[in-house]
Amino acid sequence: MDTVELGKTGLRPSVMGLGAGGPSRLGQSYEAPREQSVEVVREALELGVTLIDTAEAYRTEEIVREGIQGTPRETLVLCTKKSTWKEPEPAEVRQGCEDSLRQLGVEAIDVYQMHGVSPERYPYVRDELVPVMLELRDEGKIRFLGITEAFESDTGHEMLQMALEDDVWDVMMVGFNLLNQTARERVFAETMHRGIGTLIMFAVRRAFSNPDRMREILNELVEKGQLDPEFAEAEDRFQFLLDGGAEDLADAAYRFCRYEPGADVVLSGTGKVEHLRRNVESLNRPPLSEAAVARAREIFAKVDSVSGS
Ligand SMILES: NC(=O)c1ccc[n+]([C@@H]2O[C@H](COP(=O)([O-])OP(=O)(O)OC[C@H]3O[C@@H](n4cnc5c(N)ncnc54)[C@H](OP(=O)(O)O)[C@@H]3O)[C@@H](O)[C@H]2O)c1
Repeated sequence: MDTVELGKTGLRPSVMGLGAGGPSRLGQSYEAPREQSVEVVREALELGVTLIDTAEAYRTEEIVREGIQGTPRETLVLCTKKSTWKEPEPAEVRQGCEDSLRQLGVEAIDVYQMHGVSPERYPYVRDELVPVMLELRDEGKIRFLGITEAFESDTGHEMLQMALEDDVWDVMMVGFNLLNQTARERVFAETMHRGIGTLIMFAVRRAFSNPDRMREILNELVEKGQLDPEFAEAEDRFQFLLDGGAEDLADAAYRFCRYEPGADVVLSGTGKVEHLRRNVESLNRPPLSEAAVARAREIFAKVDSVSGS
């Protein structure tokens, strides 16, 4: 699998990252046997994935620990997160980091991220929690500082635009997909300029894995005046992606993100080895045709109100 420079961090992970959260949480959300979730991690490494993203909130850190056993630590980029929705005290960030280190069974976290930060919470994170992150970095417990947005509610990247004003973040996790491409102008233009690494979430999510959900989202977009009703109603609305070389919608969704300038690592979350293998194949395929990409940009140009979840 191809690798990519993660901003200016000097890290060079695979272009696909394994997400241990999202709707699947490696299958733990639908009660997959623990062994199956561990197998997803092992198989991902086997297939060349070298970046794994987890979080204290996902309760998958120990599964990741089991899955990475035997893999040389220096070949991996491990990312985890501290939840921010309950406004943690600064001391809780230190505690959270130490708990994550223990659960992952490592001495340092490569990218430690403030998780799902809302625009309202951002000033608190910057003023009260970043100082603790910097201490943890000085102590060698974390290597780089990351922040992830609450894309389901912050579909226009308001928080990341605030974070881009501050010179502290090495890596940002950004919601981006075929439906909502606003990160192109609102985030990637600046992250590329500044050398901030990006991890892409929501590439497929529910919209591209569940046709009923897709229909609901398209109807919502028509009602909001962000999508042409003719496109939404057409039976063969996504045929242009298949004509552009895609195997199916999930394949198109991952490849669309993979080749977006400024999108460094595309995260893929699954609890199924079969899906994992398909997704690795997708991320290894060439770009969709230029015509298909141009059409996707045009169709969804006005969309900024949905995450695809
Ligand atoms: N704010 C945040 O910090 C935040 C928020 C969301 C996500 N994330 C991170 O980003 C990662 C990626 O996000 P995500 O999990 O939403 O990723 P995703 O890859 O966009 O979507 C995952 C969903 O698609 C399904 N899926 C995966 N491959 C498929 C395939 N080939 N065919 C059909 N369905 C497929 C999965 O179900 P199956 O299990 O059935 O495959 C799951 O429901 C997360 O795991 C997490 O690490 C962070």
